[in-house]
Amino acid sequence: MAHTRDGFQSRLGFVLAAAGAAVGLGNIWGFPTQAANHGGGAFLLVYFAVIFLLALPALYTELYLGHQAQANPVKALKTAWRERSPKVGAAAGYIGLGGAIVMLSFYSIVAGWMLSHSLDPLAQMAELDSVHAFLSGDSILRNFLFTPLMLLLTASIILKGVKSGIEAWSRRLMPLLLLLLVGLIAYMATLDGAAEGFRTYLIPDFAKISDPDLIIAAMGQAFFSLSLGVGCMMIYGSYLKPNENLPKLTFSVAMLDTSVAFLAGLLIIPAIFVAQQNGVQVFQDGKLIGEGRLIFAILPELFANMGQVGLLVSLTFFVLMSIASVTSTISSTEIPVSFLVENHGFKRKQATWLVTLVIFIASSTIILNFDWLFELVISLFTQYQLPLMGLFYFVTVGWVWKRGNQLHLESRGAHYWFAQYVRFVCPILMTAVFINVAIAK
Ligand code: ALA
Repeated sequence: MAHTRDGFQSRLGFVLAAAGAAVGLGNIWGFPTQAANHGGGAFLLVYFAVIFLLALPALYTELYLGHQAQANPVKALKTAWRERSPKVGAAAGYIGLGGAIVMLSFYSIVAGWMLSHSLDPLAQMAELDSVHAFLSGDSILRNFLFTPLMLLLTASIILKGVKSGIEAWSRRLMPLLLLLLVGLIAYMATLDGAAEGFRTYLIPDFAKISDPDLIIAAMGQAFFSLSLGVGCMMIYGSYLKPNENLPKLTFSVAMLDTSVAFLAGLLIIPAIFVAQQNGVQVFQDGKLIGEGRLIFAILPELFANMGQVGLLVSLTFFVLMSIASVTSTISSTEIPVSFLVENHGFKRKQATWLVTLVIFIASSTIILNFDWLFELVISLFTQYQLPLMGLFYFVTVGWVWKRGNQLHLESRGAHYWFAQYVRFVCPILMTAVFINVAIAK
């Protein structure tokens, strides 16, 4: 079969693009927020366990489905289910597609906050106080300005396609983000209060690790962070050349993503404690104040303490965060776009604008109902939809899809054992987590 679809040109390009999809607000905003809300070290420990036991196999399974089908998730899942019920497979593909839109609807709002915080240091340098107040303060107007801006930025890269858009940008920007994180952690370590933050983050309280809320939060976070459950990795797997070494690539992507989450925790959790030391009230009833918005208050505060150079650091940090957000939003936007192009004959340009419009409408609904809708959408989406879709992929690869499924054809060796793990262990573990939560409620 001729390989005529657009696709990744190099292995490194794929790893950086897939890691770019994975690394984003989930790592630098979501992970530290969850860790702070769930006891620091205990969350970190459970998170690592979930990554290795469930999210890594789920990442492989999702990439594998796309890689074998060389098609978008609706087509890929329909094909995998063709011997049982193609409709069930296609329906799961549509649910993933809808999930990508839901994810983008809240993600673009937070990514917009990153954008406005990127401009804020410039306003401060120019001593434009009212602009500074607008850019750094919460308002509906700010959301209605920066969310669409983020959507336009995403659309402009998607319009360029996979090779010269997604791959080229991910290659340039990911390494810079890593460097900056490490530099900021080194600076953080010199501040009063940071040591307690490091202790809270790195020393687990074993009494907390069996808390069902913590476990399901860690599972949701791991799936969200690796961009699993909406078909994002399936579409990236499909853009990968057929002869690539998938297990190795999967491992690289998961390790990059987990390392960035770990590093972000190493920066943000101590930052929270430094802020607390400086008199800021951070926790109320053991939870972070302000529905995840607190980090946006704490970090600029921290940068401000660095003097003039802090403005530069702040600028770099938020620009890189905006970039990390875009490398994630492009991957999720690519799912419905490729579906419209491949299944309905849309031109890439038409599909991109249509999807952007739908996301804007969904985001606007959240902005206008922020107080009750924002947190609710995020927790339902990450803690239930993503892992349940992961479970569906496990069942698909482990039980349903037979013809052409290499994992089924092998009767010994690593493939065989991995297939058994996906068939039995993963679904049982995930079901146990859900039962555990249901019993606790
Ligand atoms: N996986 C993406 C992130 O973590 C969505 O931000």
